[in-house]
Amino acid sequence: MTYARHHEAKWCAALTFVALLSQLTACSEEAPEPKYSVERLMKPETCAECHPNHYREWSGSMHAYAGVDPVFLAMNRRGQEETNGALGDFCVKCHAPLAVAMGATTDGLNLTELEPELVGVGCYFCHNVKAVEGTHNNPLVLAFDDTLRGGIADPAPSRAHHTAYSPLMDGDRLESAAMCGSCHDITVPSPPGAAEVALERTFAEWQASLFNADPTRGGLTCSSCHMPSRRGLAADEPGVPQRRVHAHGFPAVDIALTPFPEREQQRAWVQRELDATLRAELCVAELVDGAVMELVLENVSAGHRFPSGAAHDRRVWVELIALAGDREVYQSGVIADDAPLSTLSDPDLWQLRDFTFKTDGSPAHMFWDVARIEPATIPGPLTFNRADPDFFATHVARRYPRASSTPNQLMEAPDRVRVRVRLRPMGLDVLDDLVASGHLDRSIRNAMPVFNLGTVTSQDGDPVAVEWTRERSEDPVLGSRRELAGVLARCVSSAPQR
Ligand code: HEC
Ligand code: HEC
Ligand code: HEC
Ligand code: HEC
Ligand code: HEC
Repeated sequence: MTYARHHEAKWCAALTFVALLSQLTACSEEAPEPKYSVERLMKPETCAECHPNHYREWSGSMHAYAGVDPVFLAMNRRGQEETNGALGDFCVKCHAPLAVAMGATTDGLNLTELEPELVGVGCYFCHNVKAVEGTHNNPLVLAFDDTLRGGIADPAPSRAHHTAYSPLMDGDRLESAAMCGSCHDITVPSPPGAAEVALERTFAEWQASLFNADPTRGGLTCSSCHMPSRRGLAADEPGVPQRRVHAHGFPAVDIALTPFPEREQQRAWVQRELDATLRAELCVAELVDGAVMELVLENVSAGHRFPSGAAHDRRVWVELIALAGDREVYQSGVIADDAPLSTLSDPDLWQLRDFTFKTDGSPAHMFWDVARIEPATIPGPLTFNRADPDFFATHVARRYPRASSTPNQLMEAPDRVRVRVRLRPMGLDVLDDLVASGHLDRSIRNAMPVFNLGTVTSQDGDPVAVEWTRERSEDPVLGSRRELAGVLARCVSSAPQR
């Protein structure tokens, strides 16, 4: 007998005892127990009664922030104005999907007036999905019933809701990637005269990666990486067993820019995720009349490209400073934290992101203006086979100085090179554009952080992606030699080769 049957049987016995005749018929095997109303189940606070940990983690997540994010609200409002309302429910269908489904909004301009449970990606929206009818722009279909779907095949009974196992909600099943992925890929309506653009492609990138395989044979779904599991209680209710439960904080890149629950925790999680994403290696080749350097960045943990998703808004760049004694002999990517990268005149600047353009070829900052994309992100892994040239797709390399910057392509030989990989979740040029048009408050722009990626400590005691010195290049684990510019260069990496 399953736990559920057992529990129901006791409940029926109790009812028989008080001789509630009318209820007796309700105790037959198939009769549904009365549960909470759908309206009540739509409120995340309802779930907090029995799932306090899931609620706390989710409450600080970007899924909870999606519909109150001031940058989202500003962009959507500007989009409605600039397209004379043609944008419709395009944005809000993902950022407040329940509000659209319930007919509470058609354009997202009234989100601040709605019941909070309709705004953002809430518990009910994910856990009530019954079908996925596409690959992008949120094609998810809800059942709008009182059954909450999850990955547990043998759940204990819940007084609040019926439960059902769904492969769409089981991170150990490939189907679950389609649930997450179809809401994470965005195809934008084209500006007049341009073709439709696949602007955000995390799901498509993951599908092309080696992780798109049966999870019992080495595949990894979105949840495998973004919802790490631990032993615990899925519900704080009597009789619930210890089992595998999944984190609901979904940290990646964005953090709340306004007061919001769990902000410090989210920021720490984001930093931890970002720190583990790249491996860096710097080689310095000392030639007769100078030196050249090569920096290799490798995507070691993302199951898609890096950055991914909103890669058009992300600003990821390399800051490299080479010293001879205390004298700076070369630098690239050095900019004050509050200055937009677009103001930096630096032909050697290495940026990892999607460059987006309008139909006239000028940079596009707004989704609805994008006519063309030039990706400059690091690919995800395609194969485990080192003999396959695709193995090195995750490695991208840059020479410094670049040929364009110095006629002889050489620099003075350094004895120390400090490399930082820096990430700003959203470009200040994009935010300044929204401030200038009167849609965004400057205080939000000024709250946008910069993260430094990596866990190496420099001689100055700062976190850096990698630091090169002759001494470090002799390190048995992190140092190495390889051919560069015709000589044997000294290399230092941030982590051993996998
Ligand atoms: C009155 C307590 C209670 C409330 C309120 C409640 N749940 Fe549950 N829920 C449970 C119990 C008990 C389980 C079974 C846990 C187990 O077996 O480990 C459960 C299981 C689940 C599961 C797992 C289903 C499966 O088969 O994988 C999901 C998903 C879920 N709840 C979501 C929610 C959401 C979302 C809400 C808010 C709309 C909610 N619950 C409100 C008690 C509750
Ligand atoms: C973005 C979609 C999404 C949102 C939003 C979401 N969940 Fe989940 N949740 C999942 C997925 C996916 C799983 C199953 C993961 C697995 O089994 O690999 C899950 C699992 C669960 C489970 C089963 C136990 C476990 O940890 O595996 C419970 C209970 C649950 N969620 C409750 C909630 C509650 C409560 C909220 C809101 C406070 C919420 N979820 C919000 C996607 C979501
Ligand atoms: C209803 C659409 C929808 C579904 C379904 C959905 N997401 Fe999201 N997700 C979003 C939106 C919208 C945001 C960004 C909110 C913001 O930053 O304003 C987001 C943010 C995230 C982030 C944080 C990104 C960042 O840069 O900080 C991660 C990680 C994530 N989702 C993973 C998942 C996973 C894993 C699943 C499946 C279990 C999933 N999502 C399902 C819409 C969705
Ligand atoms: C092998 C592990 C892995 C898998 C599989 C994976 N991711 Fe990621 N994801 C990462 C890592 C690592 C990062 C980068 C670290 C960070 O953003 O903090 C990341 C970043 C992201 C981001 C933020 C991207 C950005 O630059 O703005 C989103 C959104 C996201 N993942 C969603 C997904 C979705 C949706 C899927 C499934 C289609 C998925 N991920 C599959 C590991 C994974
Ligand atoms: C298909 C679902 C979907 C649609 C449609 C969508 N978004 Fe998003 N949005 C997301 C997801 C998923 C993320 C997180 C991506 C990531 O972290 O890389 C996100 C992130 C964001 C962010 C924060 C991250 C950033 O720097 O961009 C903003 C702002 C945003 N979206 C605005 C908009 C606006 C404005 C529109 C309409 C023009 C829109 N979104 C349409 C799913 C969607």
